[in-house]
Amino acid sequence: MAKKNKANKRGGKGDGGEQISRKELIRLLNEDLAREYQAIIAYVVYSQVLKGAQYMNIAKELEVHAGEELAHALILSKQIDYLGGMPVVMPKPVKTSEKATDMLRFDLDNETETIRAYRERVRQCEALGEFAMAEQIRDILVQEQEHQIDLATALGVEVPDMSDRR
Ligand SMILES: [Fe+2]
Ligand SMILES: [Fe+2]
Repeated sequence: MAKKNKANKRGGKGDGGEQISRKELIRLLNEDLAREYQAIIAYVVYSQVLKGAQYMNIAKELEVHAGEELAHALILSKQIDYLGGMPVVMPKPVKTSEKATDMLRFDLDNETETIRAYRERVRQCEALGEFAMAEQIRDILVQEQEHQIDLATALGVEVPDMSDRR
């Protein structure tokens, strides 16, 4: 009962920096990890099946992304273990399509979702006083934003507007 107040403490003004429990942080990091597995699988497959001369550069780039997503998965897994949790083993579902533009669009949407999640995670880690963890997630975030730009550029679309701070 004595802990109730602490759990209810708020870290901000609805900016996603509300104090959450460590258990809730473990759950959310596991969601992030499942999303990283999804990204690894998508990039491994899409990088090899993308066809068309105009997609050769981005196909190479997707191979690089695959390796970066694996590094992210390892970092998250380490943090989940550090928090006393068990890293999940199931990826979020990966969509498939024969069309290059579909594949690139799936990746772009996933990266946008991932960026939203990590922005929130940085605030949550900081609210819990886990500053080193927040820093590591910031580094991942930098790479996810680069992935997002690579995909938007290949698709010839604007980088999604995320200025709503969500
Ligand atoms: Fe990632
Ligand atoms: Fe990514």
